[in-house]
Amino acid sequence: MSIGIPTAQAQAPLQTSDVASLVRQDRVHRSIYQDPAIFALEQRQLFGKAWLYIGHESQIPNPGDFVTLKLGTQPVVLVRHKDGTVHVLYNRCGHRGAVVCNEPKGNAASFQCCYHGWTFATDGALVGVPQRKGYAADIDLRDPSLGMVRLPRVASYRGFVFASRAADGPDLDTFLGPVRKSIDDIIALSPDEEIAVVGGVHKYEFRGNWKHQIENLNDMYHPFFSHASTVEKDGRQFQRRSGDTEGAQIGGQSGGPNAVFEKIPLRGFPFGHSLCGAMPFNGERGGPVFEEYRRRLIARHGEERTRAILTVDWHNTIVYPNLCLQSAAQHIRVINPVAVDRTEVYVYPILLKGVPDPINHDVIRYLNVTHAAASLIQTDDLEAFERIQSGIETDGADWLVLARGADKDVEEADGSWSGIGTSELPMRNQYRAWTRYLSEGAL
Ligand code: FES
Ligand SMILES: [Fe+2]
Repeated sequence: MSIGIPTAQAQAPLQTSDVASLVRQDRVHRSIYQDPAIFALEQRQLFGKAWLYIGHESQIPNPGDFVTLKLGTQPVVLVRHKDGTVHVLYNRCGHRGAVVCNEPKGNAASFQCCYHGWTFATDGALVGVPQRKGYAADIDLRDPSLGMVRLPRVASYRGFVFASRAADGPDLDTFLGPVRKSIDDIIALSPDEEIAVVGGVHKYEFRGNWKHQIENLNDMYHPFFSHASTVEKDGRQFQRRSGDTEGAQIGGQSGGPNAVFEKIPLRGFPFGHSLCGAMPFNGERGGPVFEEYRRRLIARHGEERTRAILTVDWHNTIVYPNLCLQSAAQHIRVINPVAVDRTEVYVYPILLKGVPDPINHDVIRYLNVTHAAASLIQTDDLEAFERIQSGIETDGADWLVLARGADKDVEEADGSWSGIGTSELPMRNQYRAWTRYLSEGAL
């Protein structure tokens, strides 16, 4: 490559000082999506330092409940211990390193390794070693490093569990900052103010770098073109929300969808987080099921607060680098990098406690249509991600453009950035954080 960034094949490791040369104010160098050395640096400096979303407490309601997941590339177990505490354990045997727990989820009194039978409590402690007396006295089997090691920091915000592989760094509240509102908004949609992430999961994988997905989620420049079959006036294949009286199209307003997307507010926050404001979905919500739902919210909150709850003003929130929350289309999306050119994404419907059942059924039905592996919207994006990964192999040019709206970025007094519509502000905000993480580690 023209700027001579070392690759994994080269002997010299990538220096953190090199990464700043790969990001300009309005452009990024193609090597950040291609170079295994940069991927390794991201795993160490970004995924190894940031708070990463791991799961929701409703996935493990009872002692012994567990879910096996990935944090970045690393296998972990999210588990509720017998005393009710939530732990995130590296899914690694303290003996010779085998993955211990192979089931996707379940309930267990303990975890036992398949290789030599070492056994671990649900807080990771080593509790059983076959033929123990064969070990010399100078090895202390109570050493925590011989257990399933716990991640050093695990914290929950209103049931959303995050973990960090770094012992030090900003606390979770500081890290989340203003984007806690997005979690608050989703919980407020439940008349019981409680959600449950128990509606299954869609999993998809694409042949491309993880940043294609995280850049895409607040990219309002692409929907009117990439998703034309959904957002144009003929896009009536499905309803976005229970009770919507029209289909999924956005082009009912004057000027069509491209004019609509130009008006959506964007914000960029510290740590690379961002949001896009309300989508102007067409039409009113109505029908007996929706009216019953509204009645239950009013019974709890009164008319005025209910109106505010149902007028979701943050559509899509990215908690950088691995989480996306959608308030209107109620789901959690988790991004797991697999390799520099391979990414896995999990999409979980968010079910609301206290609503009429059809409201939750409609969320699952909506995600089946829009975010399953063979769905109407997500596949448009995946095609684009894979084409980017192929296209940047060419020697035509080294830089990708993120310049749109750059002259209109406004830095607010609180350190956030404001922009509008089809601006590439969210990506520029991500790369400010990316550069700092890779150069300095914890922000
Ligand atoms: S590798 Fe797990 S018991 Fe030996
Ligand atoms: Fe998209």
